Amino acid sequence: MKILLVGSGGREHALAWKMAQSDMVRELIAAPGNLGIAGESKCRVMRVSSDDIQGLLELARIEKPDLTVVGPEAPLVVGLTDLFVKNGLRVFGPSSAAALLEGSKVFSKELMRKFGIPSADFEIFSDVDHAVKYVNSTKFPLVVKADGLAAGKGVFVCDHCEQALAALDLIMKQKVFGAAGARVIVEECLEGEEASFIAFTDGITVMPLASSQDHKAISDNDKGPNTGGMGAYSPAPVVTPSAHKKIMNEVMLPTVKAMSTEGRPYVGFLYAGLMIKDDVPKVLEFNVRLGDPEAQPLLVRMKTDPIPLMLAALEGKLSRESIKWANDASVCVVMASQGYPAAYSKGKIISGIEEAEKVQGVKVFIAGANSSSDGVVTSGGRVLGVTSLGRDIPEAIQKAYEGVERISWEGVQYRRDIGQKALSRP
Ligand code: AMP
Ligand code: GLY
Repeated sequence: MKILLVGSGGREHALAWKMAQSDMVRELIAAPGNLGIAGESKCRVMRVSSDDIQGLLELARIEKPDLTVVGPEAPLVVGLTDLFVKNGLRVFGPSSAAALLEGSKVFSKELMRKFGIPSADFEIFSDVDHAVKYVNSTKFPLVVKADGLAAGKGVFVCDHCEQALAALDLIMKQKVFGAAGARVIVEECLEGEEASFIAFTDGITVMPLASSQDHKAISDNDKGPNTGGMGAYSPAPVVTPSAHKKIMNEVMLPTVKAMSTEGRPYVGFLYAGLMIKDDVPKVLEFNVRLGDPEAQPLLVRMKTDPIPLMLAALEGKLSRESIKWANDASVCVVMASQGYPAAYSKGKIISGIEEAEKVQGVKVFIAGANSSSDGVVTSGGRVLGVTSLGRDIPEAIQKAYEGVERISWEGVQYRRDIGQKALSRP
């Protein structure tokens, strides 16, 4: 088979690395891909942006992939799957109608309310004066969220009224997220520990991946602004067997059923970002794709070839499949550029990637790096995902950081506490 993979981050490098190992895959083309993907066997990259769905269709007409796999949310929300399917191409990823689950937080919150899926209480505002009046008269902490896609930057956890007013000003008056901020959600602030719960689904059957946990804040102990994710590990002990059961029965299965009832059948990866307290899960958000960086530890633990699972999902036959996981644990430490998640430096020479991969069980996934006449240089905010496989979380942590310590560039930043939450549980 020939695969077209859409995207260019660490998640896509991990997907390319995993899919290229499949006996079913003869060739993998990534658009636009990245340096890491270009270096994997069977893989090549084509310079078409992941947001340019017409350009991707042109590429697909030339390359004739047997299956297209979409990494990021943006092309799904704007209808890549619909366009490809209309042109007789097979895509693993939801239609734009289904991708609204991530594309509009208002849609996803109203769906959860209608179908009794546990989540934070909320109010929706399209008028800034009404929103200001509400936050002036309510209790804190609370969370202000822009409705649409905002590259992970549209959520503000506010301890005080001034912060909420500043968030409303940014979203609704300054319109920093454009149309994505035409409506806001003001919601209850949930307590507990977060987890990422991701599954394959064919619109009926939900086949969960192993549990994982992201580390969203830039600094140790979850301090500082939120990022796309500074590290992840799997499995995540906060997802106890009891929590797992509740997540499946109260969140994943009802959501897939609700989407079908609403005339938006959902096929693809479904990701629930959860807050879990005393084994009780509540949904923070849905994503219509694999998490990044969660994909990295998940895919290094996945023993099953994902291609037959994607094909079965597209045929509505996922219930016949099963998925196996390494008993080992995995940890991914993201190494980022100076300044990230705000404006960051680029073009810094990276040393030590090969040395890091000499640590047994370590794989370095590339998120934002390029080759230059000086060697490999930084080109993104999140640059590398140093991902390990170890007997258990402590061993995986130790290996990942052994890899990290062999890599350097000017201004590199990374968290020192990835995986520690797993160790603090009884
Ligand atoms: P989201 O993009 O909606 O997942 O929000 C990004 C991050 O903001 C989450 O990973 C949480 O850390 C935090 N967050 C979002 N919603 C809430 C909430 N209702 N209560 C507490 N924290 C939240
Ligand atoms: N790591 C969080 C996300 O992919 O949305």
